[in-house]
Amino acid sequence: MARDLIFAGNWKMNKTIKEALELVNGLKRELVDIEEAKIVVAPPSTALSCVGDTIVDSNIDLSAQNIHSEVSGAYTGEISVLMAKDAGCKYTIIGHSERRKYFKEDDALINKKIKLALENNLEVIFCVGESLEEREEGRMEEVVKTQLLGGLEGISKDDLARIVVAYEPVWAIGTGKNATPQEAQEVHALIREELVKKYDQEAADSTSILYGGSVKSDNIEDLMKKEDLDGVLVGGASLEIGDFSELVKKGLSAKQ
Ligand code: PGA
Repeated sequence: MARDLIFAGNWKMNKTIKEALELVNGLKRELVDIEEAKIVVAPPSTALSCVGDTIVDSNIDLSAQNIHSEVSGAYTGEISVLMAKDAGCKYTIIGHSERRKYFKEDDALINKKIKLALENNLEVIFCVGESLEEREEGRMEEVVKTQLLGGLEGISKDDLARIVVAYEPVWAIGTGKNATPQEAQEVHALIREELVKKYDQEAADSTSILYGGSVKSDNIEDLMKKEDLDGVLVGGASLEIGDFSELVKKGLSAKQ
């Protein structure tokens, strides 16, 4: 079954409004002809709304980097699912390793956020991935499975259709040390196998699984050639027009 190919840029805590608009306008120009893949940008919250307005009627979709687990209330500094929707988001990232590490998000909280996003018609880019220590201790499989199943607790097969899974080994994020295509493929296959067990073959075959961690235009082609890689979630290399658009074009042609 054909799965969506997705190239997502996570801008993290980078870009003022002016810089965000320059970047997204450049991407619109460079990627205007791309029809075979979904292109997603996740700007910081302050730039969501203006980037959202700029990409209406374009082939680029908007994502939040995170939402709070409650719809509204006294949660200073947070953004809610309704605000993300209001700004034009189609997606939100949930469970990014930086949220897990620096903001102590656990699987139960991530599960709550996923459910809230889906209830409010926001699609989810759900991140899982092991740390270097966990990999070296031989616990990669256990950690990835626990995060995956914890995040998907109580999520139906219909709901899974609105979730994209992103495998991001923590040791490869922002370190320049990416997983080899074979290492990535092995974990993607493992994730798909877990989806078969929890749901069924059809659901697993139609779920896009992205790879993230030091993806750049010079390593994207070999990654994208792997059968269970359906796209990428990119941090550092999504911050410049030339880098990201080259990466998307190369990644797409490697898949075709
Ligand atoms: P990176 O980040 O591409 O800078 O390694 C990836 C991510 O955290 O999504």
